[in-house]
Amino acid sequence: PPVTVLGVPFDLGADRHGVDMGPSAIRYGGLSAALDAAGVDYADAGDLAVPTLRTRADEATDESDAKHLDGVAEMTETLADRVDRALGEGTVPLVLGGDHSIAMGTMRGAARAGPLGVVWFDAHGDYNTPTSSPSGNVHGMPLAAAHGYGDFAEMPWATASNVVEENTVIVGARSLDRDEQAVLRDSDMSVFTMSDIDSRGIGPVVEEALDIATDGVDGVHVSLDLDWLDPEDAPGVGTPVPGGVTYREAHTAMERVADRDAAESALRSLDVVEVNPVLDTRNETGEKAASLAATALGKQIL
Ligand code: ARG
Ligand code: MN
Ligand code: MN
Ligand code: MN
Repeated sequence: PPVTVLGVPFDLGADRHGVDMGPSAIRYGGLSAALDAAGVDYADAGDLAVPTLRTRADEATDESDAKHLDGVAEMTETLADRVDRALGEGTVPLVLGGDHSIAMGTMRGAARAGPLGVVWFDAHGDYNTPTSSPSGNVHGMPLAAAHGYGDFAEMPWATASNVVEENTVIVGARSLDRDEQAVLRDSDMSVFTMSDIDSRGIGPVVEEALDIATDGVDGVHVSLDLDWLDPEDAPGVGTPVPGGVTYREAHTAMERVADRDAAESALRSLDVVEVNPVLDTRNETGEKAASLAATALGKQIL
């Protein structure tokens, strides 16, 4: 199906300037050329109007357990409705972040179309709650929010009904906070760590992740946090963690996503998040994000 590109210039979830420029950095990094070369039929719907640190300067010093939560709620509703509409038009939404809290909007919208599996490519688990979070930054919470876990049980606006633990898979985790470790260990979610990738190889791990995420559901959301990559390859992110996948491994992963989609129409929605050009080296991370998105959507080398 054709693709709708949606920019979400949102930074309140990271409480950090710069990541709001992610959509610009990914577009400037060659997204349209990469999609054209991939033969992807797409339309760029531009950027959504969402609140940011710049438009909310008065709240820039929010010290609460979940910073700027009202702004996150506003963004989530706006994006969920827009994703819902893109799916209703028979397109696959490619959502450009913005910090990772935007995935709350993408998943909430995508799950309206029916049960949704999730594959979360990330150094982090993003399974904190306002109570457990060491930082108060909501970009460390979107997966817990989608499941309505913990504090989020009382925040129906944040949840993505139709997303269940059994079909949720985290790939490449290497920085989990203590409470996140305990929750993930005791849950029905699947977590593949960097150690799994090192010992089994990226291809087999991603194949198994896709098997789990697609089991019994007819669509999967793929969320690509650029800090999944090693900071050597993707320096333009707000929360870098050493020991990540290489750019080549990331491409292999996105190729497996594309292959599965070609075989089973598995991909319902994709987001590419956490690109922060202020922290980047000559937009290297924006360019890689553009290329990886095109690969997930079917770029062929030969
Ligand atoms: N676990 C840390 C926190 O909750 C870092 C989260 C980073 N998340 C991200 N999407 N980059 O604050
Ligand atoms: Mn706190
Ligand atoms: Mn993340
Ligand atoms: Mn991350």
